[in-house]
This record gives sequence, structure tokens and C-alpha cells, in this order.
Amino acid sequence: MTTSAPDSRLLVLGIETSCDDTACAVVDGEGRVLSSVVSSQFAAHRPYGGVVPEIASREHLRSWPPVSAAALAEAGIGLGEVGAVAATRGPGLVGSLLVGLSLGKAIAYALGRPFHAVHHLEGHLYSPFLAPPAPGDGTAVDPPQPARAIPERFVGLVVSGGHTNLFSVEGDAVVTLAETRDDAMGEVFDKLGKRLGLPYPQGPRIDALAERGDPGGRFRFAVAACGDDRLDFSYSGLKSQALAAVAALEREGVAVDLGAGVGGGAAGGAAAAGGGAADDEAEPEPPPALLDLLAAFRAAAVAQLIDRLERLWRRRPFDLLALSGGVAANRLLRREAAAWCAERGVELAAVPLAYSGDNAAMIAHAGLLRQRRGDSDDPFAAEAASRIPI
Ligand code: KG4
Ligand code: ZN
Repeated sequence: MTTSAPDSRLLVLGIETSCDDTACAVVDGEGRVLSSVVSSQFAAHRPYGGVVPEIASREHLRSWPPVSAAALAEAGIGLGEVGAVAATRGPGLVGSLLVGLSLGKAIAYALGRPFHAVHHLEGHLYSPFLAPPAPGDGTAVDPPQPARAIPERFVGLVVSGGHTNLFSVEGDAVVTLAETRDDAMGEVFDKLGKRLGLPYPQGPRIDALAERGDPGGRFRFAVAACGDDRLDFSYSGLKSQALAAVAALEREGVAVDLGAGVGGGAAGGAAAAGGGAADDEAEPEPPPALLDLLAAFRAAAVAQLIDRLERLWRRRPFDLLALSGGVAANRLLRREAAAWCAERGVELAAVPLAYSGDNAAMIAHAGLLRQRRGDSDDPFAAEAASRIPI
């Protein structure tokens, strides 16, 4: 990869509005995250059980002024000090993307700075190399650390609400090895949770509840394969099996509606993934059979990812796995990926929980990498697109 040397004085403003999070961040030229502010729209979408595109666009417009002001203030800089601007161009909801992309283009043009229109998955793909935010000791916050240099070769697994993708990265070349043929993994967690009456986003709650079930109990779900020689993913079959099992439990008289007891306990992926137990305290105990169902569902979902890693590794061993995306907060996935990597002698770079869900630090970081390669985009030509190849 031909790149220029890191320059810590460079400040990159990142903007991410591809779905339901309004995010702004400042990353320096060595990949230190100086600030990363994310305003989630959970409350606005919760009555509908999923993201409503029109509401998302309006919420981005409403949230941008306070979110960007907070990101600049936290980084201790003024807008004029920004040296480059990176905004997500897609994939995502076009109305939402347009808000952040237009803001980014306007800021870059007004400041006369380079502009980077970043692919959302490129942001996730390189996010495992960001340093986790250092916890303060109560009196002072430790200074942010530089991002790790991007290895020349690695395999990236990006698992989110919209994507389940396996990439091979060699220098500047990013090749998609596999993607989902139907639903994304996070999407089926959300859909199963919705069936149980849980509030959006349901993935972190399903994960927390699955921790308490027995994956080897009365439920067994098949691990989907898309042919012996294919690495592609498929999650719609698992979704159907799990929904059918829920219906069967309901017919037996088991209470499968968790909505009433759960209230607003669901937090963002990263936040909820760290704890869980405290959230659960106020809830009535879900039926053990349902917890077992969720544990078996999660086990089959994660096993499919591990199966594809194993198939790939047998075909072509690799040294480093970069795990990212909102679902990378899943506790079982983190444990299983760590165990699998340890057995195979593969290094695991798992995204820091703070940057697993959608955020703008990963977009600023991807913009920084592009800038180091000497790339930039014409702010007048960059367009938002709902579906674009990486
Ligand atoms: O990357 P992300 O924030 O947005 C997309 O680009 O899609 O991922 C959000 C997805 C949602 O489907 C959410 O339910 C899921 O990640 N998610 C989880 C967990 N935390 C977030 N799914 C399973 N287990 C989790 N702990
Ligand atoms: Zn994402």
C-alpha cells in the first residue's frame, strides 16, 4: 500500500447518518479518536418496532447541530481546524445518507479541505484497528491512543443489521468473499425479538436473554449452508425455524410476549453487550423454555459464522481476522471467535465495543486511510446510494 506518513496534526471530521444513528467524530492523523458522539433514534422509531426512513431523515436534521457541536467541543477544536471531512455515501437509507453526505460536502467545500465519501462497510471493516477509548481513573481521562497500522493482509467479517459479509483485504484491494443471500444476522435477531414484543433494537436483548438459556436444551436449529463450496451466508431459514418454535411454545401455553416486562431496558449494542444483568433485574423471569430457544437460536446463528471461517481457513489459511459491525458486540460471537482463532493460531482483532455499532469515528478513520493513500472525492460529484459495492 503506498501511503503517506501519519501526521498527528491532521484532524478528520467524520459524519455517519446511513440509518438511525446521527454520529459525528474527530479523529487525528494517527487515528486517535478525539471524540465520537452518537445520537440514537431508538425512541423515535420504537413505536413502529423498526426504523421508519422518513422519520430517520428528519431526526438526522434535528440531531446534527447538537451532535456536531458536542463532537467538536469534546475534541477541543473549532470547525476551522478540521483538515479533512469524511461522510458515509452508502449503503443505507438514501434520505438519511443525503443529510450527512450533504453536510460533509458543504463543510469540506466551505473550508476548502479534502472530502472523502466513505463506504459504510469500509468504515466497519477497518474499525477493529481503532484503539478502545481509555477509561479515565475518575480524576483524569487517559489520552486516546493511535490506531493500529492496517496489516497488509487480513480477513474481515462484518456482521450488522444490514450486512453479513466476509472480505479479503490485501493492500488496497478489498474483495468480497461472501455475503448473505437473504437476511443479515442482526436483522434476524431483531425480527425474532420483535415477535417476542421486545423494543427495537432487539439484538442486544436477545443476546442478554440467550446468555441465561441452555443452547443444548430442547431446541436445536440447523446451521445453514449454501452448498459445500460456497462461503455465502443465509439467515432466513433460521429465522423461520425460530419463529415456528416460538409459535409452538405459544400453543403450549408458554408466555412468549416479553414486551410488557421489558420496558425501555434495551440499550445500544455496545452498551447493552457490556452489562445485561442490571437491565434484567426489573423484568419478570422469562419462561425457561423461551430462554433455551433463544440460546439455541443464538448458537446456530454464531455457528454459521464460525463454519464459514473454518471453510475459508481450510481453503486458504489466514493470519488475522478483523471482526466488526453491530453484531460483533454479541457475547457468544466474541467468545467463539476468540476460541476459534486461538485454536487455529489466527490473531483476532475484535472491534472495541464502543465502535461496534454505527459511529462516525470509523468513518473518519476510513477517510484518513483514503487520504493517506492520496485519494479524495469531488464534493460536487459524490452521490448517496442505497446499494453500492465496496
Ligand atoms: O452496525 P450496526 O449498528 O448497524 C448496521 O449497520 O446495521 O448494527 C446494528 C445491528 C442491529 O441489528 C442490532 O440488533 C445488532 O446489530 N446487535 C446485536 C447485538 N448488539 C447489536 N445483535 C446480536 N447481539 C448483540 N449483542
Ligand atoms: Zn453499520
